[in-house]
Amino acid sequence: MSNKMTFTKTGESLRVSAPAKINLHLEVLGLRKDGFHELAMLMQSIDLFDEIDLTKTNNGKIQLITDNKELSTDDENLIVRAAKLLLETSMVENSGLLIHLKKNIPIGAGLAGGSSDAAATLFGLNALWGIGYSNKQLEELGSELGSDVPFCFAGGTQFCFGRGESLEPYKCKSDMAVVLVKDPLAEVSTPVAYSIYKEKNKDRYLKAEEDFEKRRRLVKNASWLNPLSTSNPPPLRNDLQEVIEPITPAVRNALEFLSTLEGVLSFSMSGSGPSCFGLFADIGTAKQSIAENQAKLELLGLECWCCGFRSRGVSFF
Ligand code: C5P
Repeated sequence: MSNKMTFTKTGESLRVSAPAKINLHLEVLGLRKDGFHELAMLMQSIDLFDEIDLTKTNNGKIQLITDNKELSTDDENLIVRAAKLLLETSMVENSGLLIHLKKNIPIGAGLAGGSSDAAATLFGLNALWGIGYSNKQLEELGSELGSDVPFCFAGGTQFCFGRGESLEPYKCKSDMAVVLVKDPLAEVSTPVAYSIYKEKNKDRYLKAEEDFEKRRRLVKNASWLNPLSTSNPPPLRNDLQEVIEPITPAVRNALEFLSTLEGVLSFSMSGSGPSCFGLFADIGTAKQSIAENQAKLELLGLECWCCGFRSRGVSFF
């Protein structure tokens, strides 16, 4: 893939896009020895993305600036951690780096915005610093930063197993579109969502690797996958929804809103929430449905996006 290196007053610069994801299937199988959950998921990239500009400077520092005032710009931010991890492992010389993040994906929303920013940073810096790591190496490095980072790197439609980092691509030719809704005041912490789920369901967890494998095979051979189409929409399972929906009014509102939309094929919460999405036959139907429901959206105080499925993960602009 060619990159689009440009030159600014300060130096070489690259712009990378970091797309959001939704979960078409999120099934919790059991608990792993490392304390994470063993998952069987089908994830889908969508056309809602953050924009990251990476520019070489000469002050020796790594600086992150962003238009989103709620985000930290220090070592807590996955972008800064991704840049530092790449520096450590590649031993490349850093003369200085300015990162500008334009945040379009809502934060704490179950859309993997932070993970996608980390993946995009690894991807862009690998080119800007001329490191030459393969995609596989970058995915492996990304898995140290978060379970969803490898998916965000590869993107498209993928089965994600293990703690989410073990990928198997699925060829999806669907033109389906997504209506995404979120209460701007609501956030859900992923560790909290998993710990509530565990408390409620740990006695039912599968334990043996062969039982995990049976479930993985069932997910990969599910009848709704052949093909993933408007006449055969995914049933959209998300195990975390069963514990988050009852305690999160914002999720109940979003799901109730989606259920009333003309043309919606199926709807669900994404990841650990609170954002929820509905699937539509195409982007025109999705936009039309939203246009007819603007007043209701405002009344409920929900933010809304219409976007298509995207066939790849992070990329150069
Ligand atoms: O990997 P990531 O940093 O995104 O995970 C955030 C938290 O979500 C973990 O610390 C863990 O509490 C929970 N988690 C889990 N099992 C997974 C993925 C995440 O329990 N497979």
